Amino acid sequence: MKVAIIGGSGKMGQWFTRHLLEEGMEVVITGRNQPKLLAAGKKLGVPTATNIEAVKKADVVVISVPLDTFETVAKVIAPYVREEQVIVDLTSLKTKPVELMHRYFNKGTILGIHPVFGPGAKSVSNQNIVLTPTNEEEAVLAGRARLYLEEKGANVSIMTPQQHDQIMAVVLGLAHFIAIVSADTLLGFQQFEQMKKIGGTTFKVLYTLVESVISEDPELYADLQMNFPHIKEVEALFLAKTQTWADIVKNDDKQGFAKKMKVLREKLEKTDPAFHNAYENMYRITDKF
Ligand SMILES: NC(=O)c1ccc[n+]([C@@H]2O[C@H](COP(=O)([O-])OP(=O)(O)OC[C@H]3O[C@@H](n4cnc5c(N)ncnc54)[C@H](OP(=O)(O)O)[C@@H]3O)[C@@H](O)[C@H]2O)c1
Repeated sequence: MKVAIIGGSGKMGQWFTRHLLEEGMEVVITGRNQPKLLAAGKKLGVPTATNIEAVKKADVVVISVPLDTFETVAKVIAPYVREEQVIVDLTSLKTKPVELMHRYFNKGTILGIHPVFGPGAKSVSNQNIVLTPTNEEEAVLAGRARLYLEEKGANVSIMTPQQHDQIMAVVLGLAHFIAIVSADTLLGFQQFEQMKKIGGTTFKVLYTLVESVISEDPELYADLQMNFPHIKEVEALFLAKTQTWADIVKNDDKQGFAKKMKVLREKLEKTDPAFHNAYENMYRITDKF
């Protein structure tokens, strides 16, 4: 099978190229910056092409470009998409790219895919992947993709693009926001190195989160913050909750704090069966320290 990866010179594009080559597929990659594209092609041992050439030759087209260039790419390749082709996108948001694919591609079968992992992942095994079909034809394709991915050990979820984006506003959006604000706060203190040296497991968990977010691409993370639906409401709720807890501390209300924390624990115990593994999970996360 011939696969064209639009944006194959980028981080996720290169990751998927390696994965597809291991699966015995033929891959051609594209990118804007020619020296970068040629270097990626050489490193991966795959041919490079323009977006149009790549789409013309492919059975499957994978769009792996940032959200802000998605429409430009869709417009350019649209006239060359054929009826028998499959076109998938890897964007971390789903509503807008899926809507753009429907708007511009009147041939072929499309499918929105979000690999909920970064280019540091070793394989798809144990990774979460969301598929967002919007009609029967796409649901059939999603069913086939699910079987393939589950065979490789991935955890696959199927939902609408809108559901995906709402959940991701919290799962990614809020988590990134907390990590970024925590980094900004931690750097306001002297003795940062000492903190790392003597910090216990909770600090290690926090710092692992901070490191993993701050080392990522700022453009991508800014794109996500600006585009997740309802992210402003999610972050406003977080700020209001922060204020409530800070007020309890400011008022030296030890009883109130403990009571409220106990209520949180009871709620989590009821809603999350894995809650009791908290310590085990924390040590697993901080193994690398
Ligand atoms: N990184 C992650 O952790 C992650 C995880 C899951 C999903 N995703 C999604 O995967 C997609 C790619 O992310 P990434 O991290 O791989 O970004 P990236 O490293 O910046 O790569 C983006 C690629 O798109 C290319 N590109 C941009 N505009 C193009 C155009 N008009 N024609 C051809 N190629 C074009 C870029 O080429 P130039 O560099 O030459 O401009 C580059 O090769 C994004 O939609 C992102 O939301 C990322």
